[in-house]
Amino acid sequence: PGNDFLGWLDLPEQMLSQVDAIAARANEIRANSDVLICIGIGGSYLGSKAAIEFLSPAFEAQRKPLVVFCGHQVSSDALGDLLDFIADKDVSVNVISKSGTTTEPGIAFRVIREFMEKKYGRSGAAARITATTDPASGALRKLATAEGYATFPIPEDVGGRFSVLTAVGLLPIAVAGVDIRELVQGAIDAKKFTSGSDLSTNIAARYAVARNILFRQGKVMEVLASFQPQIHFVGEWWKQLAGESEGKDRTGIFPATLDYTTDLHSLGQWMQEGSRTVFETFILFNKTRRSITIPSFADDGDGMNYLAGKDFEFVNDKAFKGTLLAHLDGGVPCSVIRVEDRSAAALGQLFYFFEKTIAISGYLLRVNPFDQPGVEAYKKNMFALLGKAGTEKQGEVLKKRLMDLGI
Ligand code: PA5
Repeated sequence: PGNDFLGWLDLPEQMLSQVDAIAARANEIRANSDVLICIGIGGSYLGSKAAIEFLSPAFEAQRKPLVVFCGHQVSSDALGDLLDFIADKDVSVNVISKSGTTTEPGIAFRVIREFMEKKYGRSGAAARITATTDPASGALRKLATAEGYATFPIPEDVGGRFSVLTAVGLLPIAVAGVDIRELVQGAIDAKKFTSGSDLSTNIAARYAVARNILFRQGKVMEVLASFQPQIHFVGEWWKQLAGESEGKDRTGIFPATLDYTTDLHSLGQWMQEGSRTVFETFILFNKTRRSITIPSFADDGDGMNYLAGKDFEFVNDKAFKGTLLAHLDGGVPCSVIRVEDRSAAALGQLFYFFEKTIAISGYLLRVNPFDQPGVEAYKKNMFALLGKAGTEKQGEVLKKRLMDLGI
């Protein structure tokens, strides 16, 4: 099941021929924009957000152009703040939706399109809008053709959460100043250690097998834990990849993320002594970009002089090792994934590694890892409650149920 959605397997090689066209559009945007607004949800946003947070400096003021995201929720406060923020800025827009019919990005794009057309005129706005969508069909493709927006295709056989290495991810990532060829090359290189049936050399298969053995032993939750905040949104991307691919047919490992050492002071207690239904995967960098040494003070008022002259990452490493041993002692099975550094190449490897792992893991769970039928349930109710044509009867039933619930 799902074998018509395996396009992501050989996607990196295929993208090499498209990288220049994507980079060229990104350079136009970089030249004339303070801000790129990316409008999309789920797989149409998390991959680029993950890459930009992983590869960019921490503070938004250090980034130019700034890539911001909307259309991944329905919050008027969030959108209103964005409109205030961009009022006096030069703006480009990348609206991203494979289906072209998703409500959240659809209504956000209406608001942003109105802003753009008021600011730049209809044809001026069109020149600043790029649509990334289905190559031939869907409402967004039609609109883009009618308005003359630049477009990039999402291959039909690549699902949203596996699309980070298509233009879905690559255009925003390139606008953020990343060498997307290096990212794609990293994914190609990952094939070396994610292919074949030998578990000693195919680490994606080994990880998939390990997590399924643990799941069958009652470890129904996996925590992806990192000691570097830059990886936080890779975790958010991974949560969608794993959760939407595996959580169906009343099975699936629940994916969660923790940011250490921050969360050792909040959920660390639960990890150490809470219900033993969890296993943990640590994700570590071999090298960080910076080295910061702890200074010495003659008074040693805080008693930290024993760490003077040591690098922050020396302390971080001991925090990891201490946590690993403590959690093993507490009955949490642990694995370790080592990422070389905070480079585009290493991230490309990581993306491909996780995609391969989750696809194999889904098949080990005997589910179709490439569909998401359960996502339709909330949409059906929402459309009926919104009064979409043809759903009126269902809408009445739902309103009555809500009244009975006192909501
Ligand atoms: O993985 C998936 O297919 C989904 O999460 C989609 O990415 C998400 O629902 C957005 O869909 P679309 O790109 O069609 O707007």
